[in-house]
Amino acid sequence: MNPPSVECLQLCKTYPGAERPVIDDLSLQVQQGELLVMVGPSGCGKSTVLRMIAGLEPISAGELRINGRRVNELEPKARDVAMVFQDYALYPHMSVRDNLAFPLKMRRVPAAEQAKKIARVAEMLQLGELLERKPAQLSGGQRQRVAMGRALIREASVFLLDEPLSNLDAKLRVQVRAEIAELQRQLGATMLYVTHDQTEAMTLGQRVAVFNQGRLQQIASPRELYDAPANLFVAGFIGQPPMNLIPASLLSAQPAADSTCVWVGVRPEHLRIATAHDAQQLHVSVDMVEFLGHETLLYLQPDVGGAPLVMRQAGRSALALNARIALAFDSEPHCFDAEGSRIAYPLAARSTEHLP
Ligand SMILES: Nc1ncnc2c1ncn2[C@@H]1O[C@H](COP(=O)(O)OP(=O)(O)O)[C@@H](O)[C@H]1O
Ligand SMILES: [Mg+2]
Repeated sequence: MNPPSVECLQLCKTYPGAERPVIDDLSLQVQQGELLVMVGPSGCGKSTVLRMIAGLEPISAGELRINGRRVNELEPKARDVAMVFQDYALYPHMSVRDNLAFPLKMRRVPAAEQAKKIARVAEMLQLGELLERKPAQLSGGQRQRVAMGRALIREASVFLLDEPLSNLDAKLRVQVRAEIAELQRQLGATMLYVTHDQTEAMTLGQRVAVFNQGRLQQIASPRELYDAPANLFVAGFIGQPPMNLIPASLLSAQPAADSTCVWVGVRPEHLRIATAHDAQQLHVSVDMVEFLGHETLLYLQPDVGGAPLVMRQAGRSALALNARIALAFDSEPHCFDAEGSRIAYPLAARSTEHLP
């Protein structure tokens, strides 16, 4: 494994006058050449973390290291990081070329070298034709690429991207997202990418760090987050539509009496219509049918009460509104205890489920 590039060691942040920290005891490492995505709902502290790493926000407690060196007290300029902000601003009176050159001029890079770097970034981001235009003459996606270019041109050792695609429409977002991933691979750059969008996190991240209310919930590969969420928050946050969370007490084949399983989680694609062989059956009625072309989402109200469930079926569904069906689980469900932590699926429930 590569050595760590960014290390957060028990970082805390409390804004002046606030009672509670907005970042609480954060420890994580970003390896050199890694693209790590931080995801979480709005207000969970993602931007605060990036701003602490960039040196734009003082660190209240803990240590921050970049390439092995403590940087808590270092000025932003001395940290060798480049940041792309959510509300990127280009200089409106400058051409694209001059916008790209600006960070180089600030660092007194010689003119010949400036020209070389601009040519390289323009080629990578397909800005060659646009170099003489002003920002007002660019589309949103083109402006976004210039903002990216202005950060990347510095060849910093760490790139921090704070929701850089949030101003783009959905189609462009997918396109620029792919370009960022490709660029990161080409450059072998260390990147910390922040988004509130779990789809973006899952498609972009080599590893994904999930945050809620200032605390790191889980850091893992997209696949592991999906297959083994560490707690109820991650279970509900990753996946669209979200995992169904059913109170264990509502199930007919309940987990063993001595089990601490309080919530049973089942992904929409793991619900299916029960057969006579299924011990675990949940009777529901079809509340709503959403046909999406390649799949159909069915919203189902359990007879025993509780929140509606979502079932995913490939293509068109044969089920109509108000149909009454019995549901079974297609794979071993997830279990969570009263605190919301993931626990092993109780063996007693496992054995009863497979009885004919
Ligand atoms: N300068 C500030 N002063 C006081 N509170 C702030 C400041 N900046 C952000 N916050 C608060 O800190 C929390 C985390 O904010 P932020 O890091 O911007 O979240 P995110 O980027 O995940 O949406 C929010 O509750 C926000 O209101
Ligand atoms: Mg933010």
